[in-house]
Amino acid sequence: MKKKVTILGATGSIGKSAADVILSALERFDVQVVTANTNAELLAEQAIKLKAKRAVIVDETKYDTLKSKLDGTGIEIAAGEQALEEAASEPADLILAGIVGIAGLKPIMKAIEQGSCVAIANKEPLVAAGPLVMAAAKKHGTTLLPVDSEHNAVFQVFDFERSDGIEKITLTASGGPFLNRSLEDMANVTPDQAVAHPNWSMGRKISVDSATMMNKALEIIEAHYLFNIEPDKIDVLIHPQSVIHSMVHYKDGSVLAQMGASDMRTPIANVLAWPERMETPGQKLDLTQMNKLTFEKPDFERFPALKTAYQCLESGLHSCVALNAANEVAVEAFLTNNIGFLDIMDCIDHILGKTKTTKLDTITDIIEFDETIRAKTKDFITNGVTKKAAQSS
Ligand SMILES: NC(=O)c1ccc[n+]([C@@H]2O[C@H](COP(=O)([O-])OP(=O)(O)OC[C@H]3O[C@@H](n4cnc5c(N)ncnc54)[C@H](OP(=O)(O)O)[C@@H]3O)[C@@H](O)[C@H]2O)c1
Repeated sequence: MKKKVTILGATGSIGKSAADVILSALERFDVQVVTANTNAELLAEQAIKLKAKRAVIVDETKYDTLKSKLDGTGIEIAAGEQALEEAASEPADLILAGIVGIAGLKPIMKAIEQGSCVAIANKEPLVAAGPLVMAAAKKHGTTLLPVDSEHNAVFQVFDFERSDGIEKITLTASGGPFLNRSLEDMANVTPDQAVAHPNWSMGRKISVDSATMMNKALEIIEAHYLFNIEPDKIDVLIHPQSVIHSMVHYKDGSVLAQMGASDMRTPIANVLAWPERMETPGQKLDLTQMNKLTFEKPDFERFPALKTAYQCLESGLHSCVALNAANEVAVEAFLTNNIGFLDIMDCIDHILGKTKTTKLDTITDIIEFDETIRAKTKDFITNGVTKKAAQSS
C-alpha cells in the first residue's frame, strides 16, 4: 500500500527536500495535495513532478497562473486560505507541515484533527500554541513526528515508554554564521551575510533565526512541548560541525545520540518512512572526512535569545506567543533592511518587557494575541528602533 502524503509548504526548503525524497521512491508514496503561498510556478512544477492530486495556492491573485501551468494535467487546483485549511483537513497517512511561521498554525490544527500522522517542521505554531497543539494530538490520537533535525534526533533515541529514566536532553547548535563574531561586528552584518549558514541551506527566516540563535531558542520551547520535558532538563551545546544532531542523557550515565550529515533529507526520510526506514537521496555521513568534533557552551551574552527562551517558558504561554510574533516581524524588518541585526533582539526585549499575562485558551485567542503583538512590534520598529538608529547616525 502506498502512503498518502500531503505537503504543506511544498515550494520551501523543507518542501523541496521532501519532494526530493519522495521522487526517489515514488513507488512508496501517493501525493495528495501540495500547497504554497505565492510561488505558483514552482508549485505547478512540484505538483506535476510528484503527480499530486491537487495544488493549492494561498494567494488568490496567483490562481490564474497556477491554472494555466496545470492546464491539461488533470491536477485539481484551488486558492485561498480556506482552500489551504481544506487541504490540511483531507485524510492522508502523513501530512508534512513545512509552512514557515505562525501561518502554519491553523493548517496544523486541521491536520491534527483529521487524525493520522503529522510531521512538523513548522516550529512556530508549536512555540506559540504548544499546549493546544499537543492536547489536540492527544484528543484525536494523532502521532506528531518531529522533522527539525534536533528534535528528530531526540525522537529517535528517546525512550517514551520509560521516560523516568531520562535525566536531560541536549540540543546541539551549529552556532550559525556569527559564532565567533563580536557584538560590535554583528551590529553591521547584512541580511545576505546572516542567511549564509555554514552548514545548512534553509529558508531566509530560519537562516536569520540561526544567526541570532533564536532558532535554538524556539527549539528549546519546541522540545519542551514535544517531549513533555522541563526546561531545566533541556541543555544547548555548540557543535559547529553539525554531526551529532542532539542527544538524550539517561540516569545511568548512558548518552544516546543521533548522527548524520547536515542534510534535511535524512530527518525528512525518517518521518516519511516512519516507523520503517528508507534510502534517501541525501548525503551520508562519512566520519573519516571529519577531522574533529568539537563542543562548547553557548555564549548567552552574545546570543541572548537562548536565555530569553527559558524566561518565556517560565513566564507562560503569552510570553512564548509574544516572543515568536515579535521575532517574525523583526526578522522580516531586518531582511528588508529596515532595522539592523542586533535590533532584532532589541525589538523582542522591548515587546516582552511590555507583554502582560494574558489568558490564551483557544487557537482564536492565540491568533488574536499574536496579531496584537505584531502590530505593537511594527509600531516599535517604525517609531522606536528606527528613531534610535537615526539619532545614532
Ligand atoms: N529549511 C530547513 O532546513 C528547516 C529545518 C528545520 C526546521 N525548519 C522549519 O520548517 C519551516 C519551513 O522552513 P523553510 O526553510 O522550508 O521555509 P521557506 O523555504 O521559506 O518555505 C516556506 C514555505 O511556506 C510557504 N508559506 C509561506 N508563507 C505562507 C503563508 N502565509 N501561508 C501558507 N504558506 C506559506 C511558502 O510558500 P511560497 O514559496 O509560495 O512563499 C513555502 O512553501 C519553518 O518553520 C522552519 O523553522 C526548516
